[in-house]
Amino acid sequence: FNVPAPVNEPVLNYGPRSVERAALKAALTEARSQQLDIPMYIGNEQVRTGKTFEIRPPHDHKHVLATYHEGDASHVEAAITAALAAKDAWENLAWEDRAAIFLKAADLIAGPYRARINAATMLGQSKNAYQAEIDSACELIDFLRFNVHFMTEIYQQQPQSAKGIWNRLEYRPLEGFVFAITPFNFTAIAGNLCAAPALMGNVVVWKPAPTQIYAANVIMQVFLEAGLPAGVVNLIYTDGPVAGDVIFRHPEFAGLHFTGSTGVFQNLWKTIGENIHLYKSYPRIVGETGGKDFVLAHPSADIDVLNVALLRGAFEYQGQKCSAASRAYIPQSLWPALQEKLVAEMATFKVGPVEDFENFINAVIDERSFDKLAKYIDNAMADPDVEVVSGGTYDKSQGWFITPTVLRVQDPFYVTMCEELFGPVLTVYVYEDQEFDKMLEIIEKTGKYALTGSIIAQDRYAVSKATHGLRNAAGNFYVNDKPTGAVVGQQPFGGARGSGTNDKAGSMLNLLRWVSPRTIKETF
Ligand code: NAD
Ligand code: ALA
Repeated sequence: FNVPAPVNEPVLNYGPRSVERAALKAALTEARSQQLDIPMYIGNEQVRTGKTFEIRPPHDHKHVLATYHEGDASHVEAAITAALAAKDAWENLAWEDRAAIFLKAADLIAGPYRARINAATMLGQSKNAYQAEIDSACELIDFLRFNVHFMTEIYQQQPQSAKGIWNRLEYRPLEGFVFAITPFNFTAIAGNLCAAPALMGNVVVWKPAPTQIYAANVIMQVFLEAGLPAGVVNLIYTDGPVAGDVIFRHPEFAGLHFTGSTGVFQNLWKTIGENIHLYKSYPRIVGETGGKDFVLAHPSADIDVLNVALLRGAFEYQGQKCSAASRAYIPQSLWPALQEKLVAEMATFKVGPVEDFENFINAVIDERSFDKLAKYIDNAMADPDVEVVSGGTYDKSQGWFITPTVLRVQDPFYVTMCEELFGPVLTVYVYEDQEFDKMLEIIEKTGKYALTGSIIAQDRYAVSKATHGLRNAAGNFYVNDKPTGAVVGQQPFGGARGSGTNDKAGSMLNLLRWVSPRTIKETF
């Protein structure tokens, strides 16, 4: 089990005259000029159906970046067939060989593919250079390398033996194939949702969000260049229900690795339940879903720490992180000074396309998201009980731009304090200083979601009280930090309640869901 020790991939600095910036700029220019025609990857074939759809940068929706080919039910069938055909050879390959492929994939991303995958994430998903770097480079590389480390730790978990008896656990892959469904917002999550089951010896059918296909294509090319045998991961583009209709009725369906919204996941779970009699085995269901992540400030909070936690937590990547700070509970004694700081800082935010590296805020993912956010903002502006502290405007002439917005509400259960908006909108409830315990109770007892949350306090009693009092309110809990930015190997990531099955992406717990252990007792 002597594999390279995992170390988090350093975040590169794309400073004005750096070679990294020059390489990334060149990759952006090349990507924009390429007009890629993106196929599905089924078995050893690149499949072009002729039914094409355009991919446009969210921040520049008049430009056609690429086209992709959409499949139908027959392509879903073909992907399952290809996966099952690859299964025997793949699961019988030595674990070192599977590990080597994913370690090589990590090295390819760290080196020759870094600029290309970051450029794809920037253009396809409207992430600025820093956000792309921490996602499609660092987090994806970390997932790939740490998974190998966790796999070897799992394999070493063995039962006791006794005199004349040798007991062992064989960590078999699942019997059948795994279906990976991935969201638009993280390239790293997409890569990991395929790589984690595949590393453990499973074969995968992968359906990304349409708005992620541009980056998914690069991930697939990295996997293939790293030596992943054809058919181990099959990348298809269909409507979700088209894939689901075939996959969830297939007897060899063995696992769902999903990240996306709570409503979609709940419907998929229901469908799987209705079809349970069709499957050879009980499928593993792993879902990382929505969030309504909080920042709770205590009167003892350091106001600058609080300000940064809110600004970065709420607005990086336009608030489109499942972990984004979207509701804040602020004590009255801190609010006037905090409001001043928030407003002053937000006035300096540069908003625009990703190609200008000065822009901190880029576009939201698509028109549907833009319209949804604009409606929430309009409703808030029309409500006399809501104060628009900052922002409140939007513009779709060039791209799907929503101005970062802070709302102050009178009701801690106001709609934008409870629903996941998935955009750059932070709602603040200002409480009387003596009501800190009441805030703990509201957050702990009433949340539909439980993904991430932060306590900002200098008073150790308050930190301790919040850490205990909010133990069900977040799967990832941060003290004096923003609720975003979990690092693989450092803060295993996932939430409970409506936020997911809490199988902690980037940890041994997640990998354990992709094995079906066999106990072997041998008597001498
Ligand atoms: P989404 O639910 O709209 O889509 C997710 C995926 O499901 C996409 O690939 C989509 O095409 C597919 N899908 C939709 N309907 C389907 C169906 N009927 N059958 C099969 N597949 C179907 O989510 P999104 O907008 O891409 O991503 C944002 C959501 O993901 C947010 O709710 C966010 O909180 C969540 N998310 C959660 C985590 C986490 O770790 N908890 C991480 C990232 C994103
Ligand atoms: N890893 C991402 C975060 O923590 C989802 O923000």
